[in-house]
Amino acid sequence: MQRSCLLSPGCKCNEAFEKAFSYTPEEIINIIKDSGLRGRGGAGFPTGMKWEFAAKAAGEKKYVVCNADEGEPGTFKDRVLLTDSLDKLVQGMAIAGYAIGANYGILYLRSEYKWMLNDLNAKFNEFKNQNYLGNNIMGKGFDFDIEIKLNAGAYVCGEETALIESMEGKRGEPRNKPPFPVQSGYMGYPTVINNVETLCNIPYILEHGVAEFKKYGTERSCGTKLFSISGDCAKPGVYEMDLGITIREMLEMVGASNTKAVQIGGASGSTAGEKDFDKTICFEGFPPGGSIIIFNKSRNMARVLKNFIHFFEEESCGQCTPCREGTRRLKEAVDRIERGEKLSDEDMNTMLELAEVMKNSSKCGLGQTAANPFVDILGKFREDF
Ligand SMILES: Cc1cc2nc3c(=O)[nH]c(=O)nc-3n(C[C@H](O)[C@H](O)[C@H](O)COP(=O)(O)O)c2cc1C
Ligand code: SF4
Repeated sequence: MQRSCLLSPGCKCNEAFEKAFSYTPEEIINIIKDSGLRGRGGAGFPTGMKWEFAAKAAGEKKYVVCNADEGEPGTFKDRVLLTDSLDKLVQGMAIAGYAIGANYGILYLRSEYKWMLNDLNAKFNEFKNQNYLGNNIMGKGFDFDIEIKLNAGAYVCGEETALIESMEGKRGEPRNKPPFPVQSGYMGYPTVINNVETLCNIPYILEHGVAEFKKYGTERSCGTKLFSISGDCAKPGVYEMDLGITIREMLEMVGASNTKAVQIGGASGSTAGEKDFDKTICFEGFPPGGSIIIFNKSRNMARVLKNFIHFFEEESCGQCTPCREGTRRLKEAVDRIERGEKLSDEDMNTMLELAEVMKNSSKCGLGQTAANPFVDILGKFREDF
């Protein structure tokens, strides 16, 4: 079913704020925990739990960072929230600040969205004039301000610790975890990092209540989810759907026919073939990233795979060996396939072994998932190779 909790302009700033300030920070954290909201940035970490860790962490300052890097190929849903639902995002960030005890918010913006910068700053100033940001918000004795920091174009800087390095003015490379950002994040202070969409869900939950939020989705994947849908379909665009929708229902909704494959969750996500179309898109099914790319039967999946693998080889930061060398070896293999060479069974097995090593020993999510399309696409569409 298509919903519009996130995309509807019906949620007014002062109503969610009024509700939020009628609760203590602990009560807000409990509400978000009860809602079952899980992060929309990919990993699906429970948001209330993340906030609780940051609230309990010691630090003379704390930060709320909105991850608006949106670098996953095929993803453009956060762009729509930034342009059309900024009031929800500002509320979400300020309420997160109130809940964890942070007076500073940073919006980390994808460099390709630089064109939004002036407009975003102008809107933040408007929010300040209306006393929804700044000192003593709505006379409630709470100060919160947001500044924008611009990414320089690297995909890996969407990874939360590389993002922090980048915000601190260093080379954008992932850090070892632990410590996690909620313990030691931006400038060493406890930091909550949430995706744009995660934060936009906060005012809805406070305004309409946990029960209303949980009416949508499944038991373990509560609420709705935005999807950037592109590829071979009649009606591409940004859709808000219940988590738990089947792939087939989604394909019908967007007018896709003769579909061969559906890539869910971007380059590092999972690829569904026809046999999977009755499976669900949710955290306990096909994990819901922000992007869905549809391929019809005229497409050659070997070429699709080549694009994804070249992307990872290009974007690996090179810091750790399994990912730096692994993405190169995978790229060599797909290039050989592209030239018409047939990989021997031994070559194939070596590649599958390499994929396992990358998954288990790479330092960050990029290297851990870079081989996903290789294993998935090769496994399901062998006839294209
Ligand atoms: C290579 C890489 C790129 C990522 N890019 C993004 C991104 O563009 N936006 C995002 O919200 N999360 C991204 N993430 C996930 C973040 O590290 C982090 O889990 C997320 O921002 C947490 O927010 P959430 O709890 O609201 O999902 C990326 C992760 C990896 C490994
Ligand atoms: S896994 Fe890849 S992107 Fe991540 S730290 Fe290692 S080399 Fe860099």
